[in-house]
Amino acid sequence: MAERFVPVHPPRTARPAAAWKGLVNEHSRNSVAGWSDAAFTEWHVRRNILGIIVHIPRHPDAIERVLLTNAANYEKPRLVKKVIAPLIGRGLVSSDGELWRTQRKIVAPSFAPGAVAKLTGLIAKAAERSVAGWPASGRIDVARTATDTTMRIIAEALFSGDPRLTTSQAADHIEAALIAAGQVRLFAVLGLTWLKLGHVARAGERGRRFLRATLTTIVRERGTEGGDDFIGGVIRNLHTRFPAEEATMLAVDNAATFYVAGHETTANALAWSAYLMAGAPQVQERARAEAVAALSGDPETLPERLPYLRQILDEALRLYPPAPRFEREAMADDELHGVPIRKGELISVWPWLLHRHRGLWEDADAFDPDRFAAGREGERHRFQYIPFGGGPRVCVGARFATVEALVILAHWLASRRFALAEGFAVEPLGSVTLRPKDGLMLDVSPL
Ligand code: HEM
Repeated sequence: MAERFVPVHPPRTARPAAAWKGLVNEHSRNSVAGWSDAAFTEWHVRRNILGIIVHIPRHPDAIERVLLTNAANYEKPRLVKKVIAPLIGRGLVSSDGELWRTQRKIVAPSFAPGAVAKLTGLIAKAAERSVAGWPASGRIDVARTATDTTMRIIAEALFSGDPRLTTSQAADHIEAALIAAGQVRLFAVLGLTWLKLGHVARAGERGRRFLRATLTTIVRERGTEGGDDFIGGVIRNLHTRFPAEEATMLAVDNAATFYVAGHETTANALAWSAYLMAGAPQVQERARAEAVAALSGDPETLPERLPYLRQILDEALRLYPPAPRFEREAMADDELHGVPIRKGELISVWPWLLHRHRGLWEDADAFDPDRFAAGREGERHRFQYIPFGGGPRVCVGARFATVEALVILAHWLASRRFALAEGFAVEPLGSVTLRPKDGLMLDVSPL
């Protein structure tokens, strides 16, 4: 390891809080805050939260059973589906069974290796554009830059660059909708759907309406043939399988699903990677040397020439998993690593806890890209590192996100040096995604 950098994480309490306190303390506003030390050493917790049983398994064998070996028994919880339906309907993320399978088959070819490799040129252009907006030296909000860039890319890659999806107004609306969805979801999981959330909910509702209305217009304008891009293919395929109105609804659901799932997550991965490199200058220099050399070759194969940057990205996704938690509901009784599970109980899968578990990782909170050096895969369980989930519901956009992050980071590294901004406190905020609260300021300087 070059130098030891322990990046920021919320303070941990000495003892676990009572379940009800989680409804009112810091944890209710920030899902990665308010955890006790024990949360990072114990293997399974079963909590009764107002009559709902929630399991938080941390043993990789238990996670493997939920996501892979007995995946059919663990569906997306009905409560969660109900709450996110107004935003993403019955699209790929929020469906199960036959409907999920059909939709996954329709979209999968667009995310195959060959299809993603063709996007590197478009991604590189967006990356160059982001750098062009920075001062030669000074302070930048890398989280803002990252969101603007990934939003442009998703709009270009999946919706042929529809200008209605790339405005700063659109970015603000999505952010508001996601923050509100995160909070409402938490309350819903706890059975508190009646709770009102004040201005957060109102801004979220405005964002949700904007997104649904804009995407409905875009989908309807395309007709049943769809057009020659990702969303066009989805529309065309859905129309061959479903009645017209249902096909249109599902097309809008998937447009919203991919627009929302496809850029905030990657934006966070970029911001956290830049922050980690700012805190570890030797790592940054090594990654820069690799990036500068790699950028001179064939753009389509650029990601393959960035093995060290890939290690840094993997480590960033470990320390700050952009999807810090996701849920399942047991369809029938089961057992998870010796713990009985009853039908209807909820399983909360927490990359945030797994990725920093002291029984699974050495020096778990420290930034060490060497953990992911080639040849070390055998040192870890496949299901102790799950930034993209696992099993049949693994993130369909994982390759897209990885290629996108590597290409953008390579361009950033080749144009500026990054340093931590003195006086600016970085704070991880857990909602649907794990983002830096109040942005992520870094100081940039010329090479
Ligand atoms: C670093 C970036 C990303 C991270 C960390 C991430 C993380 C995840 C995780 C953890 C899941 C599984 C959730 C569960 O099992 O409940 C998931 C599913 C999904 N992701 Fe991603 N994602 C990222 C980028 C993307 C991108 C770029 C797209 C699309 C362009 C995308 C689209 C989806 C979709 C549609 C699903 C649902 C798949 C299914 O249920 O079949 N994600 N993602």
